[in-house]
Amino acid sequence: RRKLTMTLRSDTVSVTPTEILTKLKRDCATPLPLLQQVANAMSADMRAGLGPGPGPGPGLPMIPTYVDNLPTGNEKGLFYALDLGGTNFRVLRVQLGGKDERVIATEFDQVSIPQHLMFGASEELFDFIASGLAKFASNEDGRFHVSPGRKREIGFTFSFPVKQTSIDSGILVKWTKGFAVSGTVGRDVVACLNEAMERQGLDMRVSALVNDAVGTLAGAEYWDNDVMVAVILGTGTNACYVEQMSAIPKLTEHVSSSGKMIISTEWGAFSNGLPLTEFDREMDAASINPGEQIFEKTIAGMYLGEIVRRVLIKMAEEDALFGKSVPPNLSTPFILGTPVICAMQQDYSGDLHRVGSLLYDKAGVESKLSERKTVLEVCDTIVKRGGSLAGAGIVGILQKMEEDSKGVILGRRSVVAIDGGLYENYPQYRAYLLDSVKELLGTEKSNDVVIEHTKDGSGIGAALLAASNSIYNQDF
Ligand code: GLC
Repeated sequence: RRKLTMTLRSDTVSVTPTEILTKLKRDCATPLPLLQQVANAMSADMRAGLGPGPGPGPGLPMIPTYVDNLPTGNEKGLFYALDLGGTNFRVLRVQLGGKDERVIATEFDQVSIPQHLMFGASEELFDFIASGLAKFASNEDGRFHVSPGRKREIGFTFSFPVKQTSIDSGILVKWTKGFAVSGTVGRDVVACLNEAMERQGLDMRVSALVNDAVGTLAGAEYWDNDVMVAVILGTGTNACYVEQMSAIPKLTEHVSSSGKMIISTEWGAFSNGLPLTEFDREMDAASINPGEQIFEKTIAGMYLGEIVRRVLIKMAEEDALFGKSVPPNLSTPFILGTPVICAMQQDYSGDLHRVGSLLYDKAGVESKLSERKTVLEVCDTIVKRGGSLAGAGIVGILQKMEEDSKGVILGRRSVVAIDGGLYENYPQYRAYLLDSVKELLGTEKSNDVVIEHTKDGSGIGAALLAASNSIYNQDF
């Protein structure tokens, strides 16, 4: 029955596409006062999340990462990194040469994660990772070497909310980004990996467990000491930053030699004051984690194309956008990925030929020029909202840091390192983000803030953190 109502146009046509578009634009608007409120709410939720007491309290998760020393440049030796967190699984090795030589050699491999593993059993997923690692480790060439008597050490980038108990252990709190693997939540993911490595006969040691945002911060800071914040904008989204220990009341036991620690905000869980629409609410209700990760569902790559699809379906159903009946393929969830809407927005031709062919190839939709224009306006509205809100989130973090340490953040060069396919590949998204940061900070302050793209920093960063947390003496 649901299918029928989805595919047949309703008889009482009352709303025109332009009206739907006008309402969408109104609902998604991000004027400066709204962005400012979002930035303020982000700061407040960060502070609340750092508050005392065990377990999830108010505000953001604000996960202490136990990374209290960032790489110095002195790290030496062979280190591996494993990266699990989105569409791809990556393995990397790096030979570090210390202060003068830095990165002597690096090599990586990448495979996409088979869909069924995202919904399977924990052992299957970890066996897949460990066997990928074993294969990669078995062909080290002469540029890489580990000192005698040492195990190969790994930095494990695991990009999901993990409650860390030390630098090399942490319990999975929940899956995000469409993963629904059974048997991992509540377990130490390093133990899961160790068990799988044992099954593979692989003798390596996990010396650091890190989130991708944390890996990005470490990787970027290795080259530039002014990096204070790292943001991931890819399939999912997160941000982390360097916090003073005295500002983390919930962490009472740990002594940090630097007096600082990186906090992973898990800002994907933020939801205060966001401009949401019926399309967001419906997508959330249909997701595997309803009510959760609302900021992520509004600004991250996994969802932008899907929100656009939901708007187009409504336009097709209610007022014959794309002709008399709703194109059947358009009813398939996630059929329009964010890379597709991105490619459409790069079409500057007069007849929007590429928009037309993408709509046809991906969703079987035949379109007229006026319809293609409407589609682009929908894409732009959703992408503008996403990029602008991401910018407001960044300013929220800077504001929180600035409130605690006046002049230490704004008033000197501060670098925000951003990685992730969405930021890297979507020029409009990037431009909206940068505009929003600039608008919120004002010209003077925004001159102090440098937003940098760090490509694949998280893998190297994880390897560097494995090095700085090595159990072996670094001076060999
Ligand atoms: C999701 C995860 C988070 C990760 C982010 C980016 O939000 O919960 O841990 O950092 O995606 O990959």
